[in-house]
Amino acid sequence: MKLPFSTPRIALAPMAGVTDHAFRTICREQGADFLVTEMISAKAMHYQDRKTAELARLWSDETAPTAIQIFGSEPLVMAEAAEALSRAVYKHCLSPIKPACIDINMGCPAPKVANNGEGSALLKSPQLAEDIVRAVVRASEVPVTVKMRIGWDEQSICGVDFAKRMEDAGASMLVVHGRTREGRFSAPINFDELARIKAAVKIPVLANGEIFTAADAKRMLERTGCDGVMIGRGAMGNPWIFAEIKAAMEGRSFTPPTVAERVETALRQLRIVIAERGERMGVISQRGQLAWYLKGIKGAAGARGAITSASTYDEVERILRGL
Ligand SMILES: Cc1cc2nc3c(=O)[nH]c(=O)nc-3n(C[C@H](O)[C@H](O)[C@H](O)COP(=O)(O)O)c2cc1C
Repeated sequence: MKLPFSTPRIALAPMAGVTDHAFRTICREQGADFLVTEMISAKAMHYQDRKTAELARLWSDETAPTAIQIFGSEPLVMAEAAEALSRAVYKHCLSPIKPACIDINMGCPAPKVANNGEGSALLKSPQLAEDIVRAVVRASEVPVTVKMRIGWDEQSICGVDFAKRMEDAGASMLVVHGRTREGRFSAPINFDELARIKAAVKIPVLANGEIFTAADAKRMLERTGCDGVMIGRGAMGNPWIFAEIKAAMEGRSFTPPTVAERVETALRQLRIVIAERGERMGVISQRGQLAWYLKGIKGAAGARGAITSASTYDEVERILRGL
């Protein structure tokens, strides 16, 4: 199925514990043109897990295309999850809008995922990966995308063959993290393999990995020829990276946010979370994200420490405004 929206240029990567509704809202405002929930266990959905349902919820204000990412290793279970999520009829999680896509996780390196044959382990089982995509495409009402790596380890780089298989199985777009599973989050990005993958398929390909500035994004696009970039860690505490890259793409200058703007944005993100989860849970769950917003601000070390024990909005506000 062709993507029913423009090919994304600057996308927000799925990140467990990070890319919730509040953070997606802030990133969308800054120009992210495709956003993805954190990974949702298809198996947990099969067992009607309520907590999982919350992670999969989309909100009516999510105006830019937003995908729900699922992970698993059983085609039928994955198809069942995709069917319910794509129609927004999953019990315990009746989202007001449908996702733009169902994204399949084939990149997660975490042992608790890969040791179950899920996430990046699928790179070692291309036939199973293909079966999963075919089953999910059949079941889903919306296009299906795949987020993959370039292989399991340096000895088994398989990005081109794997990408072609995903395209043949019906994937509408690929996101490729330019590392192997063994490369986790630190090996150098393999630009050449990303370029070969982009050249080998007709569907759009987004390049992912190690983009922290507009210059990184430019280099990624120039060296790989990919259609767009997807950004993960570079957006943590710095959602302005999307605006920075967009400005560079359009030949405009970019003014970085002031300390006051950073503080206001962090507080707004916190207010969105509190409105959804309540004050105590909201503050506790956001402590890490709030601290990221302070990175690089002079004299912020004390504030970061103080945030780790804050449990009310007023406390956080006092600490941040003190900056
Ligand atoms: C905290 C964290 C959580 C992540 N969770 C997911 C996830 O749920 N699904 C997924 O496909 N990738 C996940 N990733 C990987 C990112 O989407 C991305 O591929 C990776 O961080 C490389 O991109 P970056 O260099 O821009 O961060 C996660 C990464 C981080 C740092």
